[in-house]
Amino acid sequence: MAFDADAIRAEFPILARRVNGKPLVYLDSAASAQKPRAVIEAMVHAMEHSYANVHRGLHTLANETTEAYESARKKVATFIGAQPTEIVFTKGATEAINLVASGLAAGLRPGDEILLSEMEHHANIVPWHFLRERLGVVLKFTPVTDDGRLDVEAFKALLTERTKIVALTHMSNVLGTVNPVAKLVGLAHDAGALALLDGCQAIVHEPVDVKALDVDFYVFSGHKLYGPTGIGALYGKAERLAALPPYQGGGEMIETVTLEAITYAEPPRRFEAGTPPILEAIGLGAAIDWLAGLDRAAVAQHEHALYDHVRQRLAGANWLRVLGEAPGKGAILSFLVDGAHAHDVAQILDGYGIAVRAGAHCAEPLMRRFGVTSSARASFALYNTREEADAFVDALYKTQAFFA
Ligand SMILES: Cc1ncc(COP(=O)(O)O)c(C=O)c1O
Repeated sequence: MAFDADAIRAEFPILARRVNGKPLVYLDSAASAQKPRAVIEAMVHAMEHSYANVHRGLHTLANETTEAYESARKKVATFIGAQPTEIVFTKGATEAINLVASGLAAGLRPGDEILLSEMEHHANIVPWHFLRERLGVVLKFTPVTDDGRLDVEAFKALLTERTKIVALTHMSNVLGTVNPVAKLVGLAHDAGALALLDGCQAIVHEPVDVKALDVDFYVFSGHKLYGPTGIGALYGKAERLAALPPYQGGGEMIETVTLEAITYAEPPRRFEAGTPPILEAIGLGAAIDWLAGLDRAAVAQHEHALYDHVRQRLAGANWLRVLGEAPGKGAILSFLVDGAHAHDVAQILDGYGIAVRAGAHCAEPLMRRFGVTSSARASFALYNTREEADAFVDALYKTQAFFA
C-alpha cells in the first residue's frame, strides 16, 4: 500500500496555516509533532461528553472516564507489546527517566557505574548526574564515532562488574542514528546491569516490541508521537516495577494510610500519585489508534525517501556540514552552514515559512563531541511532502547565498 502524505496532511488542521506569508513547512517534528484531528476530537469529545476524575467516583461519568483512561493504558501496552500493569503514565520521557533513576538510587553504592552514551538527550543524562552528586556513583559515556554511530566495541569495554545500569537512546534526536538496541541490552544483561532505553524518537518511526528487546525500562513522550503534551509512558518489566519504591506521594498511590504508617498500591498506580493527566492519556490513546491504522513500514519508507531526496539535492553543497551519517539513520538532518550561526539559519528559513530547530538540542555533550555549540535541525515526519523537502532545500540555498 503506497503511503499518501497529501491525504494524511488533510487530517492535520494546523498544516493549512501560512507563516510569514508562505505555506507552513513544518520540519520540527522531532521536537514536537503536530496533532491529527482524531487526537484533537478525542480530547474535545471527552471534555464535552464524558469527563470526571478517575478511579474515585461511583457515578457514571467517573466510571466512563476511568474506563477511557485505563483503555488508553491498554492501547499503549499493546502498542509496545507489554501488559497494561507494566505501563506507568508520566508527564513525559523526562519524568519517566527521573522516576526510574530516583527509584533505583536505593540499590546503588558509591563507585557503582552507570553507562550512558555521548549521544544522550539531557533527559537521559541529568537524572543520572543527580545520582552521581548524591551517591558518588560513576557515570561513563560510550563514545560516538565520526559518522555518528555508537561505538559498540567501546561500549563493551566500558561495561564492568560495577555497571549497574545502562541507559541509552534508541534513536538520537540530533544524529538520527538508530542504535542496535537489542544487542546493547543483551550485552548490558550479560554484564549483570539493568537496561533502560529512551524511545522518544524511535517509537515515532518504527514498531517497538519491549519483550523482543528484553529491555527492563522503555520510556517515551506522547507529544512526539502525534499525541498531546503532558503525557508519556514508562514501561517497566513487572518485576522491575514491583521492586521500585514510589516516586511521589499523594492520593491514589497508596493501599492504606494511617497516622502511623502507609502501604503502597501495586504498580502502576504506585507511581501515579494525584490526579493523572486524564485528557492527555485519552489523547495519547487516540494517537496510538490513529497510528495503528497506518502502514507503518510505508510511513518509514516515505520519511526515508524525503531524507534521501534532500541529501541528494544537497550533495554538492560544500558549505554544508551534516552531523550524523550512520547507515540506516532516521530522517533527521542536523546541519551547519559555513559562516552562519545556526540560529540565523533557522530565522532566515522561518522567513520562507520553514520551521526548523536550532541550538544544542538538549545534547550538549554530543555537540561538544563534534566541536560545535549548535546546529540547525530539519526533522521529517509522515505529513511532510516532497514539495516541502524541495522548498526547504531551495530556501537553504538562498540562505547560504546570503552568508557567502
Ligand atoms: C531522545 C529524546 N529523549 C528525551 C526527550 C525528552 O522528552 P520530553 O521533553 O518530552 O520529556 C527528547 C525530547 O526532545 C528526546 O528527543
